Amino acid sequence: MVDASNVEFQVKRRELPTHRTVLVDQEPLVPGEIRVAIDRFAFTANNLTYGAAGDLLGYWRFFPASDNESDEWGILPVWGFGDVIESTVDDVPIGDRLYGYFPPASTVVMSPTDVRRSSLTDGAAHRQKLPPLYNGYRRVLADADYDRADDDATVLLGPLHLTSFVLAHKLSTNAFYKAEQVVIVSASSKTSLGLAYALSRDEDAPTVIGATSMRNAEFVSNVGLYGETLVYEGIEKLPQASTVVIDMAGNPTVASSIADRLGSQVQRYINVGLTHWEEQGATNAFSGRPQPANVESFFAPGYILEHMGDWAPGGFDSASSAFLRDAADATFGWMTVSHQRGIDGLAATYEEVCTGTLPPSVGVVVEMSASR
Ligand SMILES: NC(=O)c1ccc[n+]([C@@H]2O[C@H](COP(=O)([O-])OP(=O)(O)OC[C@H]3O[C@@H](n4cnc5c(N)ncnc54)[C@H](OP(=O)(O)O)[C@@H]3O)[C@@H](O)[C@H]2O)c1
Repeated sequence: MVDASNVEFQVKRRELPTHRTVLVDQEPLVPGEIRVAIDRFAFTANNLTYGAAGDLLGYWRFFPASDNESDEWGILPVWGFGDVIESTVDDVPIGDRLYGYFPPASTVVMSPTDVRRSSLTDGAAHRQKLPPLYNGYRRVLADADYDRADDDATVLLGPLHLTSFVLAHKLSTNAFYKAEQVVIVSASSKTSLGLAYALSRDEDAPTVIGATSMRNAEFVSNVGLYGETLVYEGIEKLPQASTVVIDMAGNPTVASSIADRLGSQVQRYINVGLTHWEEQGATNAFSGRPQPANVESFFAPGYILEHMGDWAPGGFDSASSAFLRDAADATFGWMTVSHQRGIDGLAATYEEVCTGTLPPSVGVVVEMSASR
């Protein structure tokens, strides 16, 4: 029996910490549609960044918020698993399990296209102009290696470590821009830790320095993936050497301290994230801060599309899957999963994610099916 209503977690687009829960009646499916009950999803700083860069990069358009005449509310997409509970599509039966991009909600309606044995695409009209990587779903039951026991690690680390994997590829294929050191800003984030892990396996990688806040310095130092740990207040201690900066924080104060300290020794400054999203205006997420020479923005889905050909056919999938497995093995052990029950559970922990006060060793996984 399908519930008659859908519950959605919405945030104020221009005031991300403000959130509400909206209950909406479900519309009957039309031919070509499926209804997916979201089972579980992760929620990290990455999801907030979708909001901080929502206008610039189109993230608000994936899952339009219901009951939103004022257009001030939006839905932050999440990575998770969902089960098909209603279907008008012969090739996608009830019981099929999907991994991909979902709204933090109890259900979502999708319009499968390009249905293959192990994947499908949501062909909903409003998603067509959005980056294709986000519209693809894995049909996990077709994968002989799929094991539900790995679901938490997959939702928490999969999308972030995929970014770490391609960032490491970019650095190594560019010979680390001839730098003597790589500085990773917001070193305690899962994406940074995945990158530090990738670089720890690369014998050509230069010294990797993790920059983090005072409260997370001990954690960053203890994970043993960085050659050195620096706090933001101690940027003036950065060795004066040619440097590549991978910036997951987007904090203008930190960026300008690095520029002041290293000046033209910054070979490349790569803006990847906005974990310190409160530190800057949401209107133009990647501008408005002092820009050292050679600054660029990195967008993993774009990089993957552009560089897929760097691997032999099928090579990207097998290399990235192997990396995701190894990186999860290396980092999931010291992570504690904080399971939250349903949208109420997400609402209860949302402030900690917004303020960055959740310890970096904790990963939030929201279980929707447990709350039904
Ligand atoms: N460009 C791309 O394609 C791409 C793809 C994937 C991820 N990313 C980006 O990578 C970044 C990391 O995401 P994640 O999910 O891995 O992060 P995460 O694990 O949730 O990161 C948590 C850490 O971020 C910092 N932080 C979070 N919120 C903060 C706040 N309000 N104020 C100050 N510091 C805060 C703290 O680290 P510190 O104390 O160490 O600063 C905190 O320990 C995100 O900005 C995400 O968008 C980008």
